[in-house]
Amino acid sequence: MTLLAKLATFRALFFDDGFSGREQARQRHFCTSGFQTQSTTSIQMEVNMGAHELDKQGLSRRNMLAASAAMLAGGAAAGIAATTATALAGPEMPEGAPPLPWKWVTLDPLEAGQRAYRFYLEKDGCGTASYLSLLSLLKEKVGYPWTTLPDMMMSHAAAGYAGHGTLCGALGGAACIINLVAYDPKDPAFRQIIDRLFYWYAEQDFPSNRFDDISEFPNQVKAKAMSPLCHTSVSKWAMTAGAKISSEEKKARCAKVAGEVVYMVTQAFNEYFAGTWVPPVWKPSEEIEHCVKCHGPDDASHSRPSKFNQQGHMECLMCHDDHMA
Ligand code: HEC
Ligand code: HEC
Repeated sequence: MTLLAKLATFRALFFDDGFSGREQARQRHFCTSGFQTQSTTSIQMEVNMGAHELDKQGLSRRNMLAASAAMLAGGAAAGIAATTATALAGPEMPEGAPPLPWKWVTLDPLEAGQRAYRFYLEKDGCGTASYLSLLSLLKEKVGYPWTTLPDMMMSHAAAGYAGHGTLCGALGGAACIINLVAYDPKDPAFRQIIDRLFYWYAEQDFPSNRFDDISEFPNQVKAKAMSPLCHTSVSKWAMTAGAKISSEEKKARCAKVAGEVVYMVTQAFNEYFAGTWVPPVWKPSEEIEHCVKCHGPDDASHSRPSKFNQQGHMECLMCHDDHMA
């Protein structure tokens, strides 16, 4: 089967092909760029870029070019993969990322939070704001291995992950850093820190006034986020404030939320590594205490049997009626 035929089958399996020509071109670029639509020139460019990287690792550029010539002659994706793999399998391969956890140093929570506020507005939203504010400080103050991480890794988390309104991206970006800093297979602290952060968030009346001095919209109306979900957090606020989701006010509000999340995480980690903060284990609110007694489990890894199937620490009554009332 030719490569094009294979890709056609792949597309037929995974994508509904009922869209317009222009949409199709756009989608094709999105879904299969790197396979189907690349011209020989762009493949050659990529191979040369690969050779450049390999040069740095002390591998022969000539071997790589020979491989790329063979590949172009063969012209098949399998060929590309095979030759590249062979070239990469040399003993000079750099080691991968060091194991977790990675080093944390005491950071200024306000500086970190203000960075998050600015990155929200100047870069691309909440995921980058929280992740990159912490990452950029760690790159500056610790260096390696933080320097190996790309700045835009959490870009996709904006607006509740790619606009889907699920987890608040500020929480997602921060949780990613928390995992890197505190991961330990034998200690659930990193999970507790994240869990704590999420229910702290749900209880907050956002936005705080902490970033008013750098904001064009000081003293904004506040509303409880209700859950760690972008959708409830943003909608509750927009309805309370009478603001449009597309407004500058809303952006300022979310930038402050990202700032506050980062402020909280930085403060918690400073105290955690100073030995003065123990991540609290989740405790249900009064309203749902009885729900959870029957509908455990009480931990993320289901180490104990749970009654009546349910996982999660969100406020049940946001979505359910109390069938015991
Ligand atoms: C005394 C124990 C108990 C308490 C307290 C309790 N539940 Fe239940 N719940 C049950 C049992 C038993 C079922 C039925 C389970 C089954 O059929 O597997 C159930 C079923 C449910 C279901 C499934 C919906 C359905 O109609 O089948 C939901 C949702 C639920 N409970 C939510 C809650 C929430 C929210 C609370 C607190 C506000 C709560 N429960 C409190 C015992 C309890
Ligand atoms: C964001 C909304 C949301 C929140 C918050 C939420 N649930 Fe649910 N829950 C759902 C939905 C949706 C279903 C599926 C219900 C259905 O299909 O009828 C469900 C199903 C359930 C079921 C039935 C599961 C099964 O396998 O039978 C239980 C029990 C339940 N939830 C308990 C809880 C408890 C306890 C809490 C709080 C700790 C909670 N839920 C919080 C949305 C939510």
